[in-house]
Amino acid sequence: MPNILKNTSLKPYNTFGLDVNAAFFVEVKSVEDFIEVLQSDIAKTNEILVLGGGSNILLTKDFDGLVIKNNYRGKSTEEDENGDILVTAESGENWHEFVLYTVNKGLGGLENLSLIPGTVGAAPMQNIGAYGVEIKDVFVTLEALNRETLKVESFDNEQCQFGYRESIFKHEAKGKYIILSVTFRLSKTPKLNLGYGAINDTLAEMGIKNPSIADVSAAVISIRQSKLPDPKEIGNSGSFFKNPEIPKVHFEGLKETYPNIPSYPISEEIVKVPAGWLIEQAGWKGKRFGEIGVHAKQALVLVNYGAGKGQDIANLSEEIKASVFEKFGIKLNVEVNII
Ligand code: EPU
Repeated sequence: MPNILKNTSLKPYNTFGLDVNAAFFVEVKSVEDFIEVLQSDIAKTNEILVLGGGSNILLTKDFDGLVIKNNYRGKSTEEDENGDILVTAESGENWHEFVLYTVNKGLGGLENLSLIPGTVGAAPMQNIGAYGVEIKDVFVTLEALNRETLKVESFDNEQCQFGYRESIFKHEAKGKYIILSVTFRLSKTPKLNLGYGAINDTLAEMGIKNPSIADVSAAVISIRQSKLPDPKEIGNSGSFFKNPEIPKVHFEGLKETYPNIPSYPISEEIVKVPAGWLIEQAGWKGKRFGEIGVHAKQALVLVNYGAGKGQDIANLSEEIKASVFEKFGIKLNVEVNII
């Protein structure tokens, strides 16, 4: 049975670097560990928070329950009947290290998702995506421990109900499962996804004409490093808000006042607008308020310069939402989990 600690600081376990305490804290390394911990009296009588890389949460106060830090590691590959490679990783693996493992094996499919913070197990929760790729594009299946029955269940792509930063694990299945492992279908001869403008520009700057999987990964790493703060240096959790989807009529109206408003068509009636642009136009980009602020290179990212408080970041996000609504009539939704 892994050792359950009392009153443990969560500062090293969340990428915002917020210094709050967990009443109980335990690190698990295997399925058996998870089951034993879930059967303990402490687990049965306390609220539970499972932490992967802690890269998508905002901790606003001490957590008066049991934090289970997932450190379940391992990866394997298997060739399927079509010559594709099925790659499986345990949920506690670091996402970026896992992506590099696939890139170094010459397997394509995840290279556009390089350098995303967090763990493999958290990736399906919100169908992580970047530069024209989402994990649902290469996801095959996952195994998850049912917290009530303690049985392992499988979810295929359809059962996960993936959407833009969405899955069943943020809705009906919320809090009911612990994701144990995830399997992706990757290819030795992939079709590279270069549609996102910045990737082509960066490859051109790198002097690369016929990019390999590794070149695309390197380009994505370079773009991310130029815009997004490294959590080891400045606390943050990536995009704080989701990009809002609005009715086309609303968008057409805004375009009259703001002819340069960027947009991505979603359907005949719906348009997605970058929240970063809206927040910048509302005057927030690069603004610092003591120990917290809005990142200077990407307004979608809220930052903790060191001694910031989670509640202050939550309050700042509310002010940003109100001002974007006032200026554009658009309601922003938060992407991170506020706890
Ligand atoms: N923009 C601004 N000002 C800003 C930020 C962005 O005007 O401060 C404009 C850009 O000029 C561009 C557009 O907004 O025209 C889009 O910007 P960007 O390419 O940086 O992407 P994003 O839409 O802001 C999304 C994801 C990121 C992902 C990138 C690249 C969401 C919520 N965010 O950001 O994901 O890396 O696309 O694909 O969908 C994350 O989820 O944590 C994350 C970083």
